[in-house]
Amino acid sequence: MADWFALERDIRAMLKQPEWDDGSIGPVLVRLAWHSSGTYSKKDGTGGSDGATMRHAPESTDGANAGLEKARAMLEPLKKKYPAVSRGDLWTLAGVVAVEAMGGPRSPWYPGRTDKEKPKAAEVPPNGRLPDASQGAPHIRDVFYRMGFNDRDIVALSGAHSLGRCHTDRSGYSGPWTNTPTRFSNQYFKLLIKEKWTKKKWDGPEQYEDPSGELMMLPSDLALIWDPKFKVVVEEYAEDKDTFFKDFSSAFGKLLELGVRRSSAKL
Ligand code: HEM
Repeated sequence: MADWFALERDIRAMLKQPEWDDGSIGPVLVRLAWHSSGTYSKKDGTGGSDGATMRHAPESTDGANAGLEKARAMLEPLKKKYPAVSRGDLWTLAGVVAVEAMGGPRSPWYPGRTDKEKPKAAEVPPNGRLPDASQGAPHIRDVFYRMGFNDRDIVALSGAHSLGRCHTDRSGYSGPWTNTPTRFSNQYFKLLIKEKWTKKKWDGPEQYEDPSGELMMLPSDLALIWDPKFKVVVEEYAEDKDTFFKDFSSAFGKLLELGVRRSSAKL
């Protein structure tokens, strides 16, 4: 039986890394938890964090996962220290612990994922299941409805972009969404509503900037205020942080559970 409390303490202890981005690896760990889970398809039950298949091609080489090899490598010492813990459990738990440590809500999380060391081709999800930031509301709905989410869940989950930043050498995009990229908050929604977002003039992919030029939004972020149904929820979360935290907590918990098959009960 793994010592989950000790593991959580060790994850928390490794979050602060002054030389990394804004001083914490928390945001990239949240992204790892999300990308390992967000390949799920409710149609055939494939994808998701069970199996930790992001280590295997073609998922490992999916452009959408660029940079996440670093996050996976940073968690390897903990895999060595807690060999009974699967990578699927480790990656998803690290995301939950990171959100909470950065001031966000705790999400429900359960162990029991089993790593697939030599998965069959059909057990590794194909490329193209994760969302494309250059696209709008119809694409976002296609991707998240495939996982079993609704419009409210989509907006809640997108609030994770209060954290972290884009990197030109990973996604091609550049910059943070908020001035506080290591603090989980509803700032992303406030900025979406209050700032004037204009197209950034540069050689890179289409993205938007605030008047200071320091903060950014992806086309897929702005889709949340261009689509009237999404916008109502953005406005609600911008006003009401507690409701956002409550909804994020359950939607993120649901995301991490997608496709997980356990031989025994959850706990
Ligand atoms: C970063 C796209 C939804 C969490 C990014 C990046 C892109 C992106 C392009 C930049 C990657 C880089 O260059 O390093 C999208 C799109 C989404 C979406 C198109 C949906 C329409 C989500 C969700 C979560 C999430 C649902 C979590 C619940 C993050 C975090 C980062 C990030 C924390 C920052 C990573 C870092 O600082 O290294 N996302 N994302 N995103 N995303 Fe998303």
